[in-house]
This record gives sequence, structure tokens and C-alpha cells, in this order.
Amino acid sequence: MREFTEDTLTDAVVRSFEACGDPRLKEVLASLVRHIHDFVREVEPSEAEWMAAIGFLTRTGHTCDERRQEFILLSDALGVSMLVDAVNHHAPEGATESTVQGPFYVERAPEFERGADISGGVPGEPLFIEATVRSAEGKPIAGATVDVWQSDDEGHYDLQRPDLGEFHLRGRFRADEMGRVWLWSIVPRFYPIPDDGPVGELLRASGRHPFRPAHVHFLIEAPGHERLVTHVFVEGDPYLDSDAVFAVKRSLVRKLETRASGTEPDGKPIGRAHAHLAYDFTLRPVSGVG
Ligand code: BEZ
Ligand code: FE
Repeated sequence: MREFTEDTLTDAVVRSFEACGDPRLKEVLASLVRHIHDFVREVEPSEAEWMAAIGFLTRTGHTCDERRQEFILLSDALGVSMLVDAVNHHAPEGATESTVQGPFYVERAPEFERGADISGGVPGEPLFIEATVRSAEGKPIAGATVDVWQSDDEGHYDLQRPDLGEFHLRGRFRADEMGRVWLWSIVPRFYPIPDDGPVGELLRASGRHPFRPAHVHFLIEAPGHERLVTHVFVEGDPYLDSDAVFAVKRSLVRKLETRASGTEPDGKPIGRAHAHLAYDFTLRPVSGVG
């Protein structure tokens, strides 16, 4: 009969995976068990605390449905999503830094002509966004797909506003021969991550606020290049130093310039006062592609 003590249990569980035919799964399970066992040794949870933890994870699962993924939100709020991002995108080598995708991305947002307005009439301060997409060698990537999505000026995404139809403040653009896209939108505002579920409970219990600094999301794809998921953050936002999901990187912060007028990249004059956001994105080549 096998009998285990506090000192021998961890190795016994790790050894139980010895016959696992998938070396990566074996490595992951062994490490998971070692870390959870160490966690229990360090924290010494009471049985009531352990059941509270199980209850929390159970509620987290029950909060998930087709539209809401509370486990990803938990991973975001605990900084795990950004750590996974970091270990997968080491040293940027001049490429634009990535950050979390978040829950408000929608696949197949409508494609717009460059220069279009994605606000769909949602009121706010006009924002002109001008971007370029380049390869690591600085060459423009014509035809790159640039998905853009953002909150309104009260911090809500279209998915959170049942009063709006589908697809406001989001759209998909294609870069021109010079790797450029440009569009009209409105200035976004900071907002709370969804905090009416278990993740919100955790934030409140730990004295944390739920806010993310104002930003515009970008997802950029081009053949031969790594997909880039990132945001550009608005300089001066009060939450830049305390983002609820730890996703701010200095290189992604930009000043919104106030302009009285201007010219769009295709020469079209801009005759109204607006905020102006410019960002030059650099994609990494897919590993092994020059
Ligand atoms: C977002 O930026 O949309 C977001 C990211 C992580 C958690 C919640 C929202
Ligand atoms: Fe966001």
C-alpha cells in the first residue's frame, strides 16, 4: 500500500505522470503540481479558505458564456495575460510592442475605405487617426489589414451599449501602397473592466480599482509577418500608472495633439478642430521568414 507524507506527496504526484506520452504535457503537469503544492505549503489555507477558492473558480466558470470570458478577465487582472504575452514576444528588436487583446474584439468587423468615420454617429470629440505599417526593415506593408476598436467617450464599447446596433467604433482597414491607413473616430475615455462578476469581487476585496486608461486597440495582420495585437494609449490619462490589467507599455503611449485643421494623407483638407493621433507600427517577420 502506498502511503504519502507532506514531504513525499509532491514527488509521488509528479512521478504519476511518468507514462505520459506527450513530453510537453508531462512537463506542464509536473510544474503545475510542484507550484500548487508549494503554494499550499506557503499559504497553509484552512479548509474553509480552500473551499472559498474552489467556489470562486466555480463562479468564474459559471460567469462565462458566448459573450463573456471571466477566466481570461481573471488572467488579465492577475497580470498572467501580460506575462504570457511577454514570454512569447521577447526583446522587441524595433518591432511594435504587443499587449492584451481584451474581450471587446469582434471578428469580421466591417471593412471601411481609408478616411472613413468608424464612430457611426456616436457623439464625442472628433479624433483623426493616422498610422503606418512597416516591416522590420522599414518597408511599407501594402495591403496589411488593420483592425481598430475602441470605447466611446464614456468608456463603453458598442457591445456594452444595447441602444446601438452592431459595429460602432470598430472597423477594418487596408494599408495603401505606402503602408498608410487613416480614419475618423472620437476620443476614447478610460473605463472599468467588467466588474460585476467574480473578478470584480476580487478587485473590491483587494482594494483595487477596475479602470483601464483610454486607448485605441489595433490588430494588424500581413502575410509573412507576425500578427500584432496592441493598443495605443492616450498620454495624460489618469490610469496610465495603474491599469487594472497591467497592459501599458511606455512605447505605446502617444499624445493626442489638438489641431484646428489639417490635411488627410490623400490631400483631402480637414476643416474642423480635432484631436490627432499618429502611430507607426512595425511588424516582426514570421520566424524563419527574412
Ligand atoms: C480592453 O482593453 O478592452 C480590455 C482588456 C482586458 C480586460 C478588459 C478589457
Ligand atoms: Fe479596451
